[in-house]
Amino acid sequence: MALLRLENVVSNYGSINALKGISCEVNQGEIVTLIGANGAGKTTTMHTITGLKELNGGKIFFEDQDISRWESQKRVKAGIVLSPEGRQVFPDFTVYDNLMMGGYLQKADTNAATLKTVYALFPRLEERASQVAGTLSGGEQQMLAVARALMGKPKLMLLDEPSMGLAPLIVKEIFNLIQRIRDLGTTVLLVEQNARAALKISDRAYVLETGKIVLSGSAQDLLNSEEVQQAYLGM
Ligand SMILES: Nc1ncnc2c1ncn2[C@@H]1O[C@H](COP(=O)(O)OP(=O)(O)OP(=O)(O)O)[C@@H](O)[C@H]1O
Ligand SMILES: [Mg+2]
Repeated sequence: MALLRLENVVSNYGSINALKGISCEVNQGEIVTLIGANGAGKTTTMHTITGLKELNGGKIFFEDQDISRWESQKRVKAGIVLSPEGRQVFPDFTVYDNLMMGGYLQKADTNAATLKTVYALFPRLEERASQVAGTLSGGEQQMLAVARALMGKPKLMLLDEPSMGLAPLIVKEIFNLIQRIRDLGTTVLLVEQNARAALKISDRAYVLETGKIVLSGSAQDLLNSEEVQQAYLGM
């Protein structure tokens, strides 16, 4: 079953037509990657799904409900949670407080239980629970951004460039964590410039070019596609 389905989604910034009618879906239990160059519309797609950006055409369905006109918070409650581009943690708050902000719509005992799961996935964050987030390393801040999103108990986790600017070893760790998050039952829609690593952990993928989906298929097929190799895998 499609957990999320986009039907001819259009999104504009004034006269700039950022999404020109895109259709795609994410099935329960999948990791799906959206690849595309800078400015292709990846972040806009994420923001349109979460309701941070208004929809200017088309429809979005989540669990077969038309959520196109739902406000952002209602989408979070329904289980759509975004870990935004550029690891936007609250720098002056502790790691623990950042995590609790991710669980602001949940009950206290739910948060206590989720926190245990999150600390098991991110032991380094437990060690640094009382450290202010602004003093974490870049990789640790990215992990905090992902962990904070998990505190919202998402059914669908949207990850916008989780590996951006990180050293290769940390990138590997982040991709491992994404797989573990999926294995624990969260469906993932991933946006990545690091197309090869993303495709390797994905079930399916879509290629976005200036607001249009130009290619889609199994991650394996896209890894083998000459077009994708030349444009996105540097081969
Ligand atoms: N707030 C905004 N106002 C006007 N134009 C915007 C705004 N946000 C994005 N755009 C434009 O919309 C298009 C898509 O941008 P978007 O941020 O979705 O791309 P992206 O694929 O996420 O790129 P990147 O890989 O650089 O993050 C770009 O042409 C961009 O300039
Ligand atoms: Mg972006």
